[in-house]
Amino acid sequence: MARLDRLLANLGYGSRREVTDLVARRQVVLDGAVVRDAGARIAVGADLPGRMTVTGLPLDPPAPLTLMMHKPLDVVCSHREAGRSVYELLPPRWRARIPALSSIGRLDKDTSGLLLITDDGPFLHRVISPRSHVAKRYVATLDRPLRGDEAAVFAAGTLMLESETEPLAPATLEPLGPARARLTLTEGRYHQVRRMFAALGNHVTALHRDRIGGLDLPGDLSPGNWRPLTPQEQVALFA
Ligand code: URA
Repeated sequence: MARLDRLLANLGYGSRREVTDLVARRQVVLDGAVVRDAGARIAVGADLPGRMTVTGLPLDPPAPLTLMMHKPLDVVCSHREAGRSVYELLPPRWRARIPALSSIGRLDKDTSGLLLITDDGPFLHRVISPRSHVAKRYVATLDRPLRGDEAAVFAAGTLMLESETEPLAPATLEPLGPARARLTLTEGRYHQVRRMFAALGNHVTALHRDRIGGLDLPGDLSPGNWRPLTPQEQVALFA
C-alpha cells in the first residue's frame, strides 16, 4: 500500500503539493471513481495502470519497472556524459521517477542494440552479478579480415587488455563473414569488444548487441524504440 500523493510524486507527476492539487481538481480516477483524498492508501501492483487514470490517461507503470530498448547509435547511456541520452527517448516525466531508472550496464555511443533499463536495484545486481552467468552477445564488423586465430585467443582466458591486471574471462567468437563475427562475453569491461579486437591488431567499425542471457533483441523493436519487459522475458534472461 502506498499513499496516493507519494505514489504520484514518485512517478514524476509533480511535487506532493502539485499532485494534491491534481487530486483536488478531480483528475485522478480509480476504478471509475474520482479519488478525493490525496492521502488515500492504494494497493500498488502491475494492474494499477489499467485501473487508474491521471488527467484521463492511464497511470504510468509503477516501480518495479524494467524496459528493453533498441539503443540507437549516437545516444549515450549515462546521465552525466555529454550528448543525447537513452533517457531522453523515454517520456519526459520518467526522468523524475523515484527510484530512478538506470541502464543495466552500458553500450557505447557508437554501439547499437539490446539495452535493459530498470528501477529495480536487486534485479540490476542479479543481471550484472558474475554469479548469474548472464552472457552478452555482440555482432562486430571489422576493418580488416579475421586472421583465423581470434576464436582460440579469446577462448583461452589469457588475453590481457592494455592497462589491466586481470586477464579476460574466456569468450566465444563465431565468424559470420570475412570481417564480421559474433562474440559472446560473460563480463563487461570498458569498451571490451573494441579493445579485444584492438589487442589483435584489428578495429571494430560497427558494433551491435543482439542478446543478453536468453533474451534476444526482438526483430520488431526498431532503433530508438522500447517497451516493458514481460515477466516471461525476465525469466528468459536468466535461462
Ligand atoms: N564492448 C564495447 O566495446 N562497446 C560496447 O558498447 C559494448 C561492449
